[in-house]
Amino acid sequence: MGLANWRVRSCNFQIKLIIAIVIFILLLRAVFSPSPSFAWFQQRISSYGATRITEPNLRVAVRKDKFLEVPQIVWGLNNQKIALARSLLTARFLNRTLLMPSLSASLFYKEVELLQPMRFDKIFDLEKFNSLCDGFVQVGQYSKLSNKTDPFEMQKGSGRKWTKERDLEQLKELTNDKKLHDLELVRIVGKNPFLWHDHWPVRDYAEIFGCLTLINDIENDVVKVISKIREIGIKVKTNSTNTGSNPVVPYIAVHMRIEKDWMIHCKKWEQRTGMNQICSSKQEILDRVSHIMGINLPAVVYLAIADSLLEDDSVLKGWKTGLMPYEKRRLGVWEIYKKYPYLIQSAIDFEVCSRADIFAGNSFSTFSGLVVLSRTQRLLKLGFKDLCSNQDQLDIRFHSYAYNILGGKTGAPKLWMTDMADLSLQRISYGTNNISCDANMSNS
Ligand SMILES: *[C@@H]1O[C@H](CO)[C@@H](O)[C@H](O)[C@H]1NC(C)=O
Ligand SMILES: *[C@@H]1O[C@H](CO)[C@@H](O)[C@H](O)[C@H]1NC(C)=O
Ligand SMILES: *[C@@H]1O[C@H](CO)[C@@H](O)[C@H](O)[C@H]1NC(C)=O
Ligand SMILES: *[C@@H]1O[C@H](CO)[C@@H](O)[C@H](O)[C@H]1NC(C)=O
Repeated sequence: MGLANWRVRSCNFQIKLIIAIVIFILLLRAVFSPSPSFAWFQQRISSYGATRITEPNLRVAVRKDKFLEVPQIVWGLNNQKIALARSLLTARFLNRTLLMPSLSASLFYKEVELLQPMRFDKIFDLEKFNSLCDGFVQVGQYSKLSNKTDPFEMQKGSGRKWTKERDLEQLKELTNDKKLHDLELVRIVGKNPFLWHDHWPVRDYAEIFGCLTLINDIENDVVKVISKIREIGIKVKTNSTNTGSNPVVPYIAVHMRIEKDWMIHCKKWEQRTGMNQICSSKQEILDRVSHIMGINLPAVVYLAIADSLLEDDSVLKGWKTGLMPYEKRRLGVWEIYKKYPYLIQSAIDFEVCSRADIFAGNSFSTFSGLVVLSRTQRLLKLGFKDLCSNQDQLDIRFHSYAYNILGGKTGAPKLWMTDMADLSLQRISYGTNNISCDANMSNS
């Protein structure tokens, strides 16, 4: 009994020793080689802003020697981005590369001669775009066209009778036509691609937006503007007696749509649709943003506003104590913006809003809609899941709000996230008051 007992104990001791050695070796490995989960985390962070949602191997590449040409792309920055993505998705449907489209540098709705055509690669990095979107869509240069024989011209249908179904039918006929299949260039003529029927889910658009990277010169200016905002934050913090609680003073970007043209447009829109949530006055925006719960004050508020409002000091007045409003002029970055045409100014503002700690915009604005899409996409890339059900737990610095919709009894604006499962871009392109999260919004 005694001997057996000793044997068992000795055996126990040997097992313990072996376990200790194994643990020691494991520890050594952990210290000297980065663990896979850490590497995964790093990869998540470093791929910020430049990852595709879909696994590349689930996609089939498009042909790089057959091309599609589309009409001039026009209107606001985000109408143009949507038109661009729709052209690319059409090209993909036809298994073709989109010939470098022509964007418009200035914001003219009617006078076509004033549009100032601007090549895609004067604003977005072409090489990066094609490498990030490889296997999905491609933009090709005119120099790649080998055969200068006449292209096939396809007239996009229009009018009330031209339904979404007919439009899709036309595209299908085009893909099934053997003669056209081998033709180098198909040219679509007619209305601008923003007005084409939409056949694609939000995810496809999001994937393309994720491949759009600003060229270096513009990106550097985005960084300059954001550093200016952060500098104000640092100064404010140094001034503040209440130090310590807040490591970084947050910045809230507010896309403030209150210029005259918009107010006329949105009032008409409200009359036509019988909705009363489209227009927000300056006072309403101020009130709603002031009621956002959980922001550590002081905070810097960046106002993304139309140039016409830069002359109007009243946008800087009336903010709650602790919220410090700045626009381009007061921030001292007007010089940076001034050297660019409309389209690029707007692209810089877009990034400043998209990268803000907190964003508030109007859910009937395409600009705001695409900012929230990019912010939602970023959360998914960072690994957040089931955004909807976890919304309340989400750190405030990831929040986006629609100030035109009341969120609850407290007077705060409604939290806003893009429904990534939406089957078309309709709600983002034309605005919506349905930004509720209760539907199927999980990251599936
Ligand atoms: C395009 O055509 C190529 C060659 O015919 C084919 O391998 C590829 O799967 C097609 N891609 C799409 C998106 O249809
Ligand atoms: C251009 O295309 C036409 C018709 O598709 C063909 O007959 C001709 O040989 C081509 N020319 C060149 C230089 O490839
Ligand atoms: C910080 O305090 C100084 C002196 O009181 C003042 O002039 C300055 O405007 C303050 N800066 C900010 C960003 O509030
Ligand atoms: C609001 O959007 C969700 C999808 O995000 C949809 O399921 C729901 O039916 C919409 N509600 C209305 C009133 O349109």
